[in-house]
Amino acid sequence: MTPEDFRKYGHQIIDWIADYRENVEKHPVMASLDPGAIAEKLPTTPPSDSESFAAFLDDLNHIVLPGVTHWNHPHYYAYFPGNATLSSILGDIICSGIGGIGLNWQSMPALTEVEEVMCDWMRQMVGLSEQWQGVIQDTASTSTLVALLCARERTSNHCQVHSGLQGEKSPLIVYSSTQSHSSVKKAALLAGFGLHNLRFIETDDQFALDAESLRKTIKEDLVQGFKPCAIVATTGTTGTTAIDPIAKMAKLAQQYNLWLHVDAAMAGSAMILPECRWMWEGIEQADSLVLNPHKWLGIVFDTSLFYIKDSEHLIRVMSTNPSYLQTAHDDEAKNYRDWGIPLGRRFRALKLWALIRDQGITGLQKRLRRDMENAQWLKKQVENMPHWQVLAPVILQTVCVHHCPPHLAGDDLDKHTLDWVNRVNLSGKAYLIPAKLDGRWMVRISIGAEATTLEHVKSLWEILQLAVAHKL
Ligand SMILES: Cc1ncc(COP(=O)(O)O)c(C=O)c1O
Repeated sequence: MTPEDFRKYGHQIIDWIADYRENVEKHPVMASLDPGAIAEKLPTTPPSDSESFAAFLDDLNHIVLPGVTHWNHPHYYAYFPGNATLSSILGDIICSGIGGIGLNWQSMPALTEVEEVMCDWMRQMVGLSEQWQGVIQDTASTSTLVALLCARERTSNHCQVHSGLQGEKSPLIVYSSTQSHSSVKKAALLAGFGLHNLRFIETDDQFALDAESLRKTIKEDLVQGFKPCAIVATTGTTGTTAIDPIAKMAKLAQQYNLWLHVDAAMAGSAMILPECRWMWEGIEQADSLVLNPHKWLGIVFDTSLFYIKDSEHLIRVMSTNPSYLQTAHDDEAKNYRDWGIPLGRRFRALKLWALIRDQGITGLQKRLRRDMENAQWLKKQVENMPHWQVLAPVILQTVCVHHCPPHLAGDDLDKHTLDWVNRVNLSGKAYLIPAKLDGRWMVRISIGAEATTLEHVKSLWEILQLAVAHKL
């Protein structure tokens, strides 16, 4: 493709994206087809000769689009808001257009320096002190893995350069709550701690980690001869957006010399609102934290911000320094390859830069406040309607509900919940995710797609009532 062709088709693609976004509401929110339905429409072998871009665009419309679940649809309430704002898309396009890879500062100085400044802008926006330094990782899963590797190496006095965890006399222990995201367990397993050395601490009636149980468990582990190593707190759990008591957990971390990592993947975006900062009170005592602006804030996936206080320790754990990557500037500039797992990096900071400049802090704050108000509106309706229940505190933008007619309980109630949410999703009118809470099915309504207004939430409430009445 020549630059001239690129200009022509690039305009078409921008038009395609703009049309798609303008008309996204016309699509059923959830793609509803059988596994294999898309693949069977694609040729099983690649073309031997050049094909026209027009044919590619045609297939995009006829093969791909029916298999798309529309995360930017105003009636998208599943998982978490995965907003891909248009300005951040433009930043992403420029990243691909420049098409370079960051290996060290010299390989693309702008990549490193814009990232450094964007991480610092975000640090200021979420109210963190200057003792934190950030780096963009792909996902919270990676960030938490990096955090636990740092924890492992601090507690074991850098066991990786000796016999690794296999040489440790006592097993190292990681603590998080029963409500923590599966990525915490995965990170601990990948970091070599072993399933037997993970402690999932029970939660209180708000689904937040119970600090007293954590204290007891740490003490018991010490008596048993184990070596407590790290605590992972969550600000905004996946199930209900519960808020773990970071300040209390930080005290325990300090007392027992444990690494404290905070998973604020979802709720981190809300920290741009000063009125929400109580949620991570004690954060300055943590060692590391992750927040995902590719969730609610509106940056195109993948943009996960990992902040750490002791960056020298991080670099010592992560750095490799083969001769071909060494440059004369290594002592003067950041080499982000030493701040995480991959060597090569995309110019992800452009996505952040484009969005923050387009909306400004006040524009971003306004949208997040709107979503939280919409969640409160829905909570009120559910609470005031007979046979409906809100099952967890509505702290941010997620409302956990179930419909519980008096004649249903236990497994029958579970079946009813799964049936009505399935009816909603298959109708294409809205997309919601059921999840288990205290062993029973409930429905999470995660409000916060950029396009979702109060009018949409009002219409969702009607959709839900039709669904439980079998009228959808
Ligand atoms: C609290 C929390 N932590 C971690 C994750 C994992 O995020 P990622 O997909 O960036 O690894 C999620 C995803 O929903 C989450 O809600």
